[in-house]
Amino acid sequence: CLQQIAEMSKATVHMKDPEHLEQILESIKDSGPNTLQVISDFDMTLTRFAYNGKRCPTSHNVLDNSKLISKTCQAEMKNLLNTYYPIEIDSTRSIEEKLPLMVEWWTKVHNLLIEQKIRKDQLTAVVKESNVILREGYQLFFHHLHELDIPLLIFSAGVGDVLEEVIRQAGVLHPNVKVFSNYMDFDESGVLQDFKGELIHVYNKREGALLNTQHFQEIQSRHNVMLLGDSLGDLTMADGVQDLQNILKIGYLNDKVEERKQSYLDSYDIVLERDESMDVNSLLREIRNYHDCLY
Ligand code: TMP
Ligand code: MG
Repeated sequence: CLQQIAEMSKATVHMKDPEHLEQILESIKDSGPNTLQVISDFDMTLTRFAYNGKRCPTSHNVLDNSKLISKTCQAEMKNLLNTYYPIEIDSTRSIEEKLPLMVEWWTKVHNLLIEQKIRKDQLTAVVKESNVILREGYQLFFHHLHELDIPLLIFSAGVGDVLEEVIRQAGVLHPNVKVFSNYMDFDESGVLQDFKGELIHVYNKREGALLNTQHFQEIQSRHNVMLLGDSLGDLTMADGVQDLQNILKIGYLNDKVEERKQSYLDSYDIVLERDESMDVNSLLREIRNYHDCLY
């Protein structure tokens, strides 16, 4: 059936084991949409990595590039990005080696943001003025999940307030959407004073998932998961799911493609190479058509 899905035979779509993938997809289709949940990363997974050859911003970058941040602070954030992002995606270093460095990056950036006295009421305008773009086909993706009442968990190491505003402005913050992320903590006059809860960075999503058992308990009848990510750290986002039956992992390989291709193929069931679209819609369409035929 995978061969019949036009989007899955594009040159940018890679699968290490199509037979295994086919089995997972069949099993998810047989179980029906009410046993499915979708867990997705945000930055560079739901949003575009590049547009017309230019890099698109992450939720942190939306703030970095904005008028809310002083020029000195912008320069510092850029320095940090140039130092730590290459480490994040370095395929020659282990995750264990990267862990303390990621904590260091996120902590420094959050402290810088706190110094900037960002006001809550400025976020709407900042997102509106930013160049953040959701991937092509995002409307259909959110629409399918909403219509079929499939819970969508957006699990992001970005900034929760910013990403929520992005999807709100895009008109897709439907009631089936839940977000785990780094949320800002504002004082009584609406000025950023801290970040709430445990820090989520790109390689501790497993811990984040295990801290949020309540969410997974609420949807415990959903034993099948479709997971979308762009980092190898995103693979642990479903670690809080109880009695997991099938997991279909879709990975966006945006950067350092040749160096990282094999590791992505080894870990994700479907790898989308430098692809700016939400081709996962074709799989949701399959699940939906199958369900509609039966009922
Ligand atoms: P995600 O979990 O939604 O993908 O968000 C994590 C991404 O955010 C990760 O790929 C690195 C990026 N990032 C920035 O762009 N700027 C920053 O200052 C920090 C701390 C992270
Ligand atoms: Mg990401």
